[in-house]
Amino acid sequence: DDRLRAEAIAILRENDLGAYTIPTKGLYPFQWNWDSCLVALGLARIDEDRAFREIETLFAHQWEDGFVPHIVFHADAQSYFPGPDVWDTRRATPTSGITQPPVAGFCLRRLYETASDREAAAARTKALLPRIAAWHRWFHATRDPEATGLVAILHPWESGRDNSMDWDEALARVSPEGVGEYVRRDTSHVDAAQRPTKAEYDRYLRLVQIFRGLGWDHGALHEASPFKVVDPGFNAILIRSAEDLAALAEALDEPAIAEEAARHAAAGRAALEGLWHEGLGQYACFDRAAGALVESASIGGLLPLFALEPGHARAAVLAKRIETVCARARHPVPSHDPADPRFDRLRYWRGPLWLVANRMILDGLARHGHVDAATAIARDGLALVARRGFAEYFDPLDGRPLGGGRFSWTAAMVLEFLD
Ligand code: DGY
Repeated sequence: DDRLRAEAIAILRENDLGAYTIPTKGLYPFQWNWDSCLVALGLARIDEDRAFREIETLFAHQWEDGFVPHIVFHADAQSYFPGPDVWDTRRATPTSGITQPPVAGFCLRRLYETASDREAAAARTKALLPRIAAWHRWFHATRDPEATGLVAILHPWESGRDNSMDWDEALARVSPEGVGEYVRRDTSHVDAAQRPTKAEYDRYLRLVQIFRGLGWDHGALHEASPFKVVDPGFNAILIRSAEDLAALAEALDEPAIAEEAARHAAAGRAALEGLWHEGLGQYACFDRAAGALVESASIGGLLPLFALEPGHARAAVLAKRIETVCARARHPVPSHDPADPRFDRLRYWRGPLWLVANRMILDGLARHGHVDAATAIARDGLALVARRGFAEYFDPLDGRPLGGGRFSWTAAMVLEFLD
């Protein structure tokens, strides 16, 4: 354990650029939104001040409309594509124009509650509350224009689960025509068999081009986008962050923020029921452009355990479903059900396991009383990293390390799982 802890700390230090942490060298040389917030959980074990700084840096690049970008391009780097010129968002410090899973509220609550310097933590948390509230408000205004209670993602990259089967049909409807020539960089760092395909990349870029053509006017994108999917995982994260934001605002005497966040969480929870897929026995995505639930048993449909109220009738069913899916792999939790013929043990979010997803699943299990199952997931993650290194993701059938190496969020999760 000491060796693992020391190595995790060394990785966080080598990826620390002072005010933000890169996910890994080469493949991801800038600040990523959800990476940063989750990495802050690890940084908090080393340096509380630095942990708050990580989230503060991200929110220093929040747009005036409340939007928080998925990448902040703090410095030049040629090793990543698509870079700032492709996004063309015209910010003083360039950023992307799409967002990522809003884990900030969840992570900030954890920083605040575990901090030993109570006074500093209270002041810095309180300063971030209106920023997170503005981001959540942005989601509801621009991604749920009909006030259904659930928000849509407009790009697979927003989900954080880039190439999940969840997006296959919706993405197939995006025409790649006119995308032009481009050179990927990801496949020069990582084996192409572990990354999304060229057909997917064409469409990822086509969506960026469509949004760029609209001048990144976020109010106009939902209507215009050919891709809009309501992801139960993404919404669970937003609901949980709203719940945690409400708790923080309550504790720090910000009643208006607390009231609004509690309202968002309640509306989201009520609407989540509409994503229950009886045939799959779990939650599923709703393709808002097609008006139908998506037949795809991904980990996104398991994540609501992280947001359901304790005692909720679906919680026990979902815990059981997680057990079933995990029993089909050697290591928990595969990002897609191995029983699905499309399962691909190597390819990014089409099968491999990710410790950050496991972090949320085990929190959900513990929240609903399944403490042993939660502990087993943490233990397996630690054993995997001890034997195979701090990989970006792992083959759930044999534990093989996949994707980038010396990965910041894997290091942060190891520090989380160690206690
Ligand atoms: C990538 O480039 O692979 C990212 O997931 C997009 O942010």
